Amino acid sequence: METPYQNHINKDDFEHVYEPAEDSFLLIDALEKELTFLKQMKPLYCLEIGSGSGVVITALGMALHNSIYFSTDINFKACLMSKNTALYNKVLLECVNMSFATCFQDKKFDVVIFNPPYVVTETEECKSNGIEASWAGGLKGREVTDKLLDMIPKILSDNGVFYLLLIEENIPEEVIQIMSYKGYKSEFVIKRRVKNENQLVLKFNR
Ligand SMILES: C[S@@+](CC[C@H](N)C(=O)[O-])C[C@H]1O[C@@H](n2cnc3c(N)ncnc32)[C@H](O)[C@@H]1O
Repeated sequence: METPYQNHINKDDFEHVYEPAEDSFLLIDALEKELTFLKQMKPLYCLEIGSGSGVVITALGMALHNSIYFSTDINFKACLMSKNTALYNKVLLECVNMSFATCFQDKKFDVVIFNPPYVVTETEECKSNGIEASWAGGLKGREVTDKLLDMIPKILSDNGVFYLLLIEENIPEEVIQIMSYKGYKSEFVIKRRVKNENQLVLKFNR
């Protein structure tokens, strides 16, 4: 999959918005591995939660045509950057400034993607809607992720697929268990050791 053009972004903007890093590119690599499956699936609506700079959803939009792309971010500046990244790469994207996907409740999305704030921190640290929201994940680095897990059945279509990036400290086995209680199968898509982090992408569907 092609890496989206990002030269429109001013380096200083990354003081306020998450700069694409190894985790962002691992998620893109996971989607590339899944591309044949996704093309056969022909998803109509795709959503990235927490799109940050917009590189992940834009890369998907550049590779998978005929889908309609949405993203959300709790950080307003990230929404502007996501929208611009998509625009510069000729992907039509609607980015909404909100927490998770709280205004979408009708099992609309065939593909949902999330690279969450996954760093283990104090609970108090994960209440920001600025740059801290990019990384502060609270207890087990899972406080934000766990809230989304509860919303997945409300936003994912019955044949839909959910891709989630985690690190080992997030205890992926527990996430698999939680999703299994909700009726989802899970698969490891890709794993990579980056500096001192074991990053991985899980796929969930019914
Ligand atoms: C690790 S960054 C990932 C950014 C981008 N997806 C990437 O892979 O480069 C996490 C993103 O999630 C956003 N975020 C955190 N909590 C959120 C929430 N409750 N709802 C929506 N977005 C959230 C942050 O603002 C940040 O942009």
